[in-house]
Amino acid sequence: MAALVFLACVGIIFGHAHGALKLASYYSDHMVLQRGPQQAVLWGNADTEGDTVTAQVIGQGSAATSKVQNGKWKLKLPAITNPGPFTVDVKSRDGHVTLHDVLFGDVWLCSGQSNMEFEMKKVMNTSTEIQKGVTLKTIRYMKTQWAKSNTPVEDLQIGQPWTVPTEATLKEFSAVCYLYAEYLQSHLNYPIGLIGSYWGGTPIEAWSPPEAIRSCPVVTHGTEPDCCPHAPQILWNAKIYALRAMTIYGAVWYQGETNADHTTEYNCQQKAMIREWRAQFNRESMGQTRADFPFGYVQLGAIDDKGYVGGFPALRWSQTANHGYSPNSDQHNVFMAVAMDLPDFTSPHGAIHPRYKQEVAQRLVMSALNVAYGHKGVKFQGPFPTKILTSSSGNSLTIEFDAGSAQLDIRNTHGFEICCSGGCNMFNNAVAAPITAHSQSSVTVDSSGCGSQHVQVVRYAWRTSPCHLLQCAVYDSITGLPAPTFYLTVPEGGGLIG
Ligand SMILES: *[C@@H]1O[C@H](CO)[C@@H](O)[C@H](O)[C@H]1NC(C)=O
Repeated sequence: MAALVFLACVGIIFGHAHGALKLASYYSDHMVLQRGPQQAVLWGNADTEGDTVTAQVIGQGSAATSKVQNGKWKLKLPAITNPGPFTVDVKSRDGHVTLHDVLFGDVWLCSGQSNMEFEMKKVMNTSTEIQKGVTLKTIRYMKTQWAKSNTPVEDLQIGQPWTVPTEATLKEFSAVCYLYAEYLQSHLNYPIGLIGSYWGGTPIEAWSPPEAIRSCPVVTHGTEPDCCPHAPQILWNAKIYALRAMTIYGAVWYQGETNADHTTEYNCQQKAMIREWRAQFNRESMGQTRADFPFGYVQLGAIDDKGYVGGFPALRWSQTANHGYSPNSDQHNVFMAVAMDLPDFTSPHGAIHPRYKQEVAQRLVMSALNVAYGHKGVKFQGPFPTKILTSSSGNSLTIEFDAGSAQLDIRNTHGFEICCSGGCNMFNNAVAAPITAHSQSSVTVDSSGCGSQHVQVVRYAWRTSPCHLLQCAVYDSITGLPAPTFYLTVPEGGGLIG
């Protein structure tokens, strides 16, 4: 009898599976798993070495299995396009875990610094946006914890567990990330899962794995401030590393303010970070996150209305790998939203934190539809110069946009500048070259400021804050998208920009 009681107790202890079979911390009720044709990956820990772990999305195809090796297991669920909600059962000799209310959709990772962190409670028209947001029950989100680490963290610390939108949680979630999902979903019509992993005031190095850090020039940002981790890799370790095995569709990035004192290096740093994130997410998800997954970013926004050049223009240029637009031959599957013309000089959250995240998210979605989803009919880029012609008098330049196919909306005459031979860099002042005339696809600017000297460079919107809200000079008249900032060498005698 005593023996039976003892066995029953043992049975209860093991039956409860106190931590014996576990999923990684970010698998929970209400989550979104990546939909087909990609296969969602599940992984976790278990005690019994060599044991089989079985996972089944109830009612959806066959079970998936994995052997426990070194205390870990990892498996690929079948590709599922049905949105659900489903129950997911995970079992082994060590226990049984059930996930409820799981949807299948596209999973996007949102990362960066304070403008990504900028919460829904601060966005323009916040109460209307939150009221709308909480009705969208097939957008789900989670946040990583404010944590830093000098070594890679296997099991992510969770800040906000996966949730259906609620007023209390949506107020505290990233506005750009959420609005991006909201607008994107109206085109895709299936669930979207968002992982918010961001921290204000942090440089790109903090989010970069060691492989990326090693491949670029070393940048030091001085002593570590109290507000926000700056050390290389410290947030990659704590807030990204553990996510690599989760199948995702893509990532959205809004960062750069903290790197505006080292602008040339940013080109290498951003390319390296994208390359390493892609390689490692692809490898750890057993090939299910694409090796070239779509990476969207918000080009640096504006700050105050003081009219200085500063480091922001050069950083914006670096963000595009010195092309002026994305994607380009150095940035495959990379898309951009311009934000320099969406300032908020009187933002109660500081002018560096504009409240106009709706327009930012709209522009991201236009780019994502084309670049990340292959909707090639969606125009997502503002006008960009393809040819610069010098007049015979030498007193004007004509800048042609989009090989003559642009339909320009010219809102004022400001923003073009020229650098005369020998007198230019990305940080100093240049000579104003106001617009004197324009046609449907080109603008003519006054270049007499260079006198008899050769015009070396034409630059546009080359200021930290180049204009008031939606009041830069050049827009596309159909999409309303702005021409992005540029810094272009004028070909000797004029001609195509190469
Ligand atoms: C805020 O709401 C007003 C009134 O509906 C609207 O006109 C305006 O465009 C909204 N602003 C933004 C940034 O969405």
